[in-house]
Amino acid sequence: MKKWYAVIGDPVSHSKSPAMHEAWFGESGIDASYIPVHVPAGTVGDAVASLRRLGASGWNVTVPHKQAIIPYLDEVDPLAAEMQAVNTVKVLPDGRLLGMNTDGPGFVRSLEERIRQSRRDEPVLIIGAGGAANGIALAMKQAGYGKIAVCNRTVEKAEALCSRIGGEALSLDEAAERLGEFGTLIQTTPVGMSTATGGLPISIGNLDPGAVVADIVYSPLHTDFLKAAMKNGNEIVDGLGMFIWQGALAFNEWTGLMPDTLGTRQRLIAEMEESTC
Ligand code: ATR
Repeated sequence: MKKWYAVIGDPVSHSKSPAMHEAWFGESGIDASYIPVHVPAGTVGDAVASLRRLGASGWNVTVPHKQAIIPYLDEVDPLAAEMQAVNTVKVLPDGRLLGMNTDGPGFVRSLEERIRQSRRDEPVLIIGAGGAANGIALAMKQAGYGKIAVCNRTVEKAEALCSRIGGEALSLDEAAERLGEFGTLIQTTPVGMSTATGGLPISIGNLDPGAVVADIVYSPLHTDFLKAAMKNGNEIVDGLGMFIWQGALAFNEWTGLMPDTLGTRQRLIAEMEESTC
């Protein structure tokens, strides 16, 4: 029987995941489809029951259900449990539902795919302390990054995250002052996502030109923050890689195969360029 997969969320119609996964199924010779399913807030329990009953082989979970789905799953792996967020559901051979999270590990893979040398021993600064920052901080700690600081507009949220990962919490001003200490900067706030939220989340006057600067926003591909870093001579990592790798790690969980992430990147960039023409 043909297998099928899905992404559930609200909104979901804009998602690039269906086209990306369907391309990967095609390239891998797997007869499967992947569909977007609009699931309004408050109805994720019904959605899980339907997906189970209708025989989905696995699905991705996006906003606003990453935490709300947890009580409806049979099992949650340790990273997703620590993050209290699930972005991938795998249907186990006995039909039980396993919740996982590939967002943070996807970010680490995207970072390490694009930088020239490992920066695990150098201090890392994460800007923002929301859901995305939590996932990235936990995955970076698990990957062996030893010195992590978190700065946030609401400093109490940076403190809460740092108490879980053993990092240092800073205000945005303190971080801007000490920016030269960090070998990797990771921008996780929505600042830069559109012209309405353009600008910089933190002033970068003290940025070391030898630091790697990453942003998890991928539309636009080059946010104002990345543009400023490029102008300063920094190596940059845009947010497209995290999107591709979270999907690739989910695909790998479902199929045992690893898709061509670099080819996917070239295709998505070409599509993005076409749509802005
Ligand atoms: P996500 O799941 O995408 O991380 P989130 O959990 O809503 O989204 O977190 C958004 C993060 O971006 C938060 O750290 C937020 O700061 P606050 O905790 O102070 O709200 C940060 N953020 C949002 N808008 C911002 C802005 N204009 N300037 C600086 N930080 C901002």
